[in-house]
Amino acid sequence: MFRFLRWGDCVCTKSVIVHFRTTPKQTMDDSKILIRLSKRSDLTEMQKLFVDTISTICKDDYSPEQIKVWTSSIENTQRWKDKLTSQYVLVAELDNKIVGFASLENNDYFDFLYVHKDYQRQGIADRLYFEIEKEAIKRKATVLNSDVSETARRFFEIKGFKTITPQTKIMNNVAIIYYKMSKTL
Ligand SMILES: CC(C)(COP(=O)(O)OP(=O)(O)OC[C@H]1O[C@@H](n2cnc3c(N)ncnc32)[C@H](O)[C@@H]1OP(=O)(O)O)[C@@H](O)C(=O)NCCC(=O)NCCS
Repeated sequence: MFRFLRWGDCVCTKSVIVHFRTTPKQTMDDSKILIRLSKRSDLTEMQKLFVDTISTICKDDYSPEQIKVWTSSIENTQRWKDKLTSQYVLVAELDNKIVGFASLENNDYFDFLYVHKDYQRQGIADRLYFEIEKEAIKRKATVLNSDVSETARRFFEIKGFKTITPQTKIMNNVAIIYYKMSKTL
């Protein structure tokens, strides 16, 4: 998700192994992937994944200047910590390593979605998405909204999201394009 300086997650101690239904893509051995709620101690690893993924995976869609501004959002540690406590945040773990994370804010806003640069196109976002949407439905949301990067736009289209409008956000005098997208649940 591409809402600048609005990322975060929640502090949770409960860990769950998710048994996926047939909807998510099955490209990796399910038994090896743990989907669990985030913990405060995940913060550093999540932020490293965030910076590494944007710097490598998004570099064809955004300029070095835009990427610098985007990744600099990790400097606002308090904001991240706040999100850790206020959002429903899931991490995907493989062999004790975080390979992706995603979050739901206020029941109907899909905020984070980042997959480790070395684990792209292995169905990890698919699995995280499935669990976030399931939680939104459980919370009785009728729509799922997001602000989506150019890089992630196709993924969200495949999930049934429609682009409402392209947006330009100015951050530190740098213009960043993203898309307001929405899906009826
Ligand atoms: C977008 C992102 C989360 C997708 O993660 P992923 O784990 O690689 O996605 P999946 O493997 O679950 O992809 C599922 C399907 O979505 C589609 N898809 C995913 N990434 C795609 C891409 N870059 N281009 C086109 N289709 C894509 C494909 O149909 C894919 O299935 P396939 O691999 O069998 O063709 C990941 O590329 C990422 O972290 N991007 C950078 C960070 C970012 O921009 N995050 C969103 C901020 S708003």
